[in-house]
Amino acid sequence: MFESQQLTGTQAEQYEQLLQQASALVHGENDKIANAANLSALVFHSLPDLNWVGFYFYDGNELVVGPFQGLPACVRIALGRGVCGTAAVTKQTQRIADVDAFPGHIPCDSASRSELVVPLYKGEQLVGVFDLDSPRLDRFNEVDQKNLEALADIFLGALK
Ligand code: SME
Repeated sequence: MFESQQLTGTQAEQYEQLLQQASALVHGENDKIANAANLSALVFHSLPDLNWVGFYFYDGNELVVGPFQGLPACVRIALGRGVCGTAAVTKQTQRIADVDAFPGHIPCDSASRSELVVPLYKGEQLVGVFDLDSPRLDRFNEVDQKNLEALADIFLGALK
């Protein structure tokens, strides 16, 4: 059984531990849904001040909600729409300090104040996005971004 460990030390040290746990969790498993579900749960229960953590997957036309932790969310997001659709088309992580200042932000949980969305590309192929919401303004710093991108890479690396 997976034992999640309390993260300790500096923010960088805590992420080192979280990434080790993420690697252990997906080790030997290439099922997209299973890994997305477990990684959402791991991150949601390990990092403070999050109200939504999860995945949207590209179905060939738009983004469709996948495994997540948090309140029920919008099911479909068109490419280019919202923070998620913007991350998908720009291929750039969107680190939004204040979602109310982002034109076109799609509110799913009214508690969300800041958001980080990492685009998921396997080579040139859009897989989806990894989305984190916080009830705290400016919740995500550069260290969060770098390490959550690394966690997204662990997810992508485990795929077939
Ligand atoms: N806020 C996102 C929508 C997804 S929810 O946050 C879960 C967006 O603007 O794309």
